[in-house]
Amino acid sequence: MKTPICDRLGCDVPVFAFSHCRDVVVEVTKAGGFGVLGASTISPEQLERELRWIDDHVDGRAYGVDVIIPTTYDKEAEKTAGDPADLIPQENRDFINGILTAEGVPELPPDERERVHREVVEGRGGMTPDGARRLLETALRHPGVKMVVSALGAPPLDVVKLLRDHNLVIGALCGKASHVRRHREAGVDVIIAQGTEAGGHTGDIATMVLVPQVVAEAGPNIAVLAAGGITRGSQIAASLAMGAQGVWCGTVWLGTRESELDPFEKETIFAARAEDAVRRRVRTGKPVRMLKSKLSEAWDRPGAPPILPTPLQGILYNEAHARVVRAKRADLYSFPVGQSVGSVNSETSVRDVMYQLQLEYVEAMERLALLMGGDDA
Ligand SMILES: Cc1cc2nc3c(=O)[nH]c(=O)nc-3n(C[C@H](O)[C@H](O)[C@H](O)COP(=O)(O)O)c2cc1C
Repeated sequence: MKTPICDRLGCDVPVFAFSHCRDVVVEVTKAGGFGVLGASTISPEQLERELRWIDDHVDGRAYGVDVIIPTTYDKEAEKTAGDPADLIPQENRDFINGILTAEGVPELPPDERERVHREVVEGRGGMTPDGARRLLETALRHPGVKMVVSALGAPPLDVVKLLRDHNLVIGALCGKASHVRRHREAGVDVIIAQGTEAGGHTGDIATMVLVPQVVAEAGPNIAVLAAGGITRGSQIAASLAMGAQGVWCGTVWLGTRESELDPFEKETIFAARAEDAVRRRVRTGKPVRMLKSKLSEAWDRPGAPPILPTPLQGILYNEAHARVVRAKRADLYSFPVGQSVGSVNSETSVRDVMYQLQLEYVEAMERLALLMGGDDA
């Protein structure tokens, strides 16, 4: 299943793994795929620590970094020298705290609250263009980083120039064929066509519809990766058949032992069905596919305050999320997952997933070869 993007990035198979967890990035990369570290929720200092660790463990192989560069966001929160959390209206705080208190979820102990607050506020920069630029400055100091991917819009021209000057492969996520033109004009090399099934920020077009449309719009000089709902080798075969050069997966890694989610979180994910992965704006201010819970649905209640713009809603939600995880409350737990969560039912390892994907791909190709009346996979 080697495609031109493999030669360009030095990987053996075109299986791209998006993960916020450095262990997943390293294991996928060592298994012949291409790991991409999600940096949007951490500070540049934390990113520096993560990339140093990856460099030390990845056996000299190339890997990638993903940042979020939104086109719409709260500009005051981006520029404030103070604590952006101070910009969150008291009404919104009272609403979310009121829900958790009524549900009997204890407050975080003060030191834990301070730690989470610091983490969330320092990481909030990753959800604004300036914050993303700071993360990129860090990423560019690591020669192992061969690809930078941006989400939530085409990368700005200054970012593209910076990445070009460093000879990096530039990728961008795309949820609609009509957005391809902007990506092409910005000068991206790789478009990740991400269907609505995907975990995280997503649009509303399904992968099966989106991928061939994006391939047609992108033209011969831009590689397309299929994303959204992919956990099986047969889906890799389907993606390549639709003209993609590879696949980009996120949800499937959440259930691996390398994933940093704690056992309570993994068990909640293993119990979830495809239909439990809903699309809501409550987590970041923009539509995110995530686990349905009492908390994700709370903003539908009469009298709920308006959802805040990015990154303020994320700061508010993440602090509440930390409280829910500490209390191990599955009924309130909403983490980004795609519809393929219904196929993630027990703990695996990155190696198992990589092996299984390739085995199933070969089986799918053999089935297709039989249909063609031949026997070559
Ligand atoms: C937990 C989680 C967090 C995500 N965060 C980001 C992110 O910060 N940046 C990004 O570009 N994509 C993010 N995504 C989307 C992935 O890049 C990827 O497109 C998606 O997971 C693919 O679909 P799948 O979840 O069905 O495999 C996230 C996905 C998940 C599951």
